[in-house]
Amino acid sequence: MKALQISAHGGPEAMRLVDAPVPQPGAGEVLVRVRAASVNPIDWKMRNGVMRAVFPFPLPRILGRDFAGVVEAVGAAVTDLELGVRVFGAGDLMRDGTHAEFAVVSRASLARTPEGLADDEASTIPVSGVSALIPLAEIAGLGPGRRVLIHAGAGGVGTFAVQIARELGAEVLATAGPQNLDYVVRLGAHRAIDYTATDFAATARDCDVVFDTIGGEIHRRSFACVRPGGLLVALTAAPVTGPPPRADIRVVRAKIQITESRLARLADWAAKGVVVPQISQRFPLNEARSAYAASESGHARGKIVLTIG
Ligand SMILES: NC(=O)c1ccc[n+]([C@@H]2O[C@H](COP(=O)([O-])OP(=O)(O)OC[C@H]3O[C@@H](n4cnc5c(N)ncnc54)[C@H](OP(=O)(O)O)[C@@H]3O)[C@@H](O)[C@H]2O)c1
Repeated sequence: MKALQISAHGGPEAMRLVDAPVPQPGAGEVLVRVRAASVNPIDWKMRNGVMRAVFPFPLPRILGRDFAGVVEAVGAAVTDLELGVRVFGAGDLMRDGTHAEFAVVSRASLARTPEGLADDEASTIPVSGVSALIPLAEIAGLGPGRRVLIHAGAGGVGTFAVQIARELGAEVLATAGPQNLDYVVRLGAHRAIDYTATDFAATARDCDVVFDTIGGEIHRRSFACVRPGGLLVALTAAPVTGPPPRADIRVVRAKIQITESRLARLADWAAKGVVVPQISQRFPLNEARSAYAASESGHARGKIVLTIG
């Protein structure tokens, strides 16, 4: 099978499209024929080696986490999936990934793809969708009457976050660059804040929740936006240094676990058109370097997808 592999950490030149053996599923695992796979920042961070201390996987390794495709074979103890059924989900970070024609994934980290949801759309959901769902719906418990500030509302996580927060009934503020202000409003933001022209910390006040997808200096400045007793919930992104400057708000680093029930909740919304996956660019597997470069630019709109099968 064709697979996007690294044999050493490095920049784009470290990625090679190779012929690799089709992997075999073990107990509790599923072999998927991949039809589409989105690209996430974690993919090029794993390639660069910056995640090596956290995920010390062996090399060579096939890159990629998200996938959508069909069940090709199942391992022992997987009794509830027919061959040929459409599924989507995420691979395990410690083993070969999904930017390949086939991938072995855990049964626990996939769900059936509903009718009405295309494979490329489904492939955008696992990492980005679940990384928005857990902070907003589960940790923050967003609902009507609550105000949330979402950083990078036009990004992979942000496009899901804006739509989910709106669907949950919250008042949604989102930061974006000037070319994406109308876009995040069309997605559902009540107010878009141009982070290149406006100090978000001065204009987005009294938020019940801030969802930080950027980290670093943005994280520190976000404390000013939260009302006393509110919540700052963050993904793991740029490093945050120093102690929190306020003790009167809750600060949570979200742990993201991709499970069947979370995938199913997001897929149900997507199939109904309530939360619409935002694909800005599609590339075939043999143009994966261009797909990774688009993600690595830091200015992708929504999701970038590799179309494979
Ligand atoms: N488990 C976890 O903790 C977890 C899970 C998922 C993601 N993450 C991390 O979360 C981060 C975001 O992921 P992603 O997939 O959403 O990335 P992404 O799609 O690459 O984000 C790109 C977006 O960021 C926006 N942006 C860049 N700088 C900005 C700023 N200063 N203010 C507001 N928006 C800004 C860009 O908007 P413009 O083009 O308008 O500038 C662009 O739309 C990454 O570091 C990723 O690794 C962590």
